[in-house]
Amino acid sequence: MKTIDPKEVSTAQLHSYLLGAIAPRPIAFASTIDSKGNVNLSPFSFFNVFGSNPPILVFSPSRRVRDNTTKHSLDNVKEIPEVVINIVNYAMVEQMSLASTEYEKGVNEFVKSGFTEAPSLTVTPPRVKESPVAFECKVREVIPVGDGGGSANLVICEVVMIYINDAILGENGQIDPFKLDAVARMGGDWYCRANGNSLFEIVKPIRNKGIGVDSIPEAIRFSSVLSGNNLGRLGNVESLPTQEEIADFGNDPRIVEMKQRFIHDPESFVFHLHEYAKEILEQGNVETAWKILLQA
Ligand SMILES: Cc1cc2nc3c(=O)[nH]c(=O)nc-3n(C[C@H](O)[C@H](O)[C@H](O)COP(=O)(O)O)c2cc1C
Repeated sequence: MKTIDPKEVSTAQLHSYLLGAIAPRPIAFASTIDSKGNVNLSPFSFFNVFGSNPPILVFSPSRRVRDNTTKHSLDNVKEIPEVVINIVNYAMVEQMSLASTEYEKGVNEFVKSGFTEAPSLTVTPPRVKESPVAFECKVREVIPVGDGGGSANLVICEVVMIYINDAILGENGQIDPFKLDAVARMGGDWYCRANGNSLFEIVKPIRNKGIGVDSIPEAIRFSSVLSGNNLGRLGNVESLPTQEEIADFGNDPRIVEMKQRFIHDPESFVFHLHEYAKEILEQGNVETAWKILLQA
């Protein structure tokens, strides 16, 4: 394992490690305006949501590592403390990247990147019409953290109006991640797309209190077959099956066959039992997986 003292490496190198590791990062496509009315549009992946009451988004136009200059977006929110944060989907990614070009002050990146300005309801900067979601925000505070190249400027924004394209809503009225087709920033020039097989669900462990991996019997916990994800799922049950349930499951045809096949080879029996449990676990049936595992 490489160990790095941030004080011992150049800011550029540190920047690259940080952005490579803290990924994927969502992208705030920020529309701002200066006091003369010049519109600016730039992407920022130092971005996230931090609360919903009040709804708070934070992004950071940092000082350039190269020459310690500040970004137009930062200068603008200091002049006019308003911003529209537009969400970027896959259909927008190339034009969004073009908008990150360091054009001179006063150049409108809506025009350069070919996006459409749609008027906002509560703030002066326009929103991006093509974005699936847009947040009109009032800037509550700008917090600079340091004054050297690469230092952050936290722009704390309160959302005052939200636009959501109906086309990304599911039947339950919530945003459907498949329809959103969001993109995010990785290190270097890499991006990722949240769609297809890369999307998956894990039920939140908020309603139950799982037994925890530490309570899984050692013969299962140190299995050569089960992965950390498998153990995480097994540890999320509140209780183990009863002796009666385990005994009943002994009649499962696959278990009966395995018992026969490995009658003189208990080690192979356990190995195959764990493989069977893994298969069932990955289909999402944790209760049955436990009944399988406790056959040994
Ligand atoms: C996807 C993406 C994410 C970016 N994230 C950031 C960021 O979080 N902070 C930052 O300072 N620059 C970031 N940049 C670079 C800025 O977009 C770029 O410096 C831009 O020219 C700033 O424009 P402005 O000076 O008009 O504000 C990012 C660029 C891209 C393409």
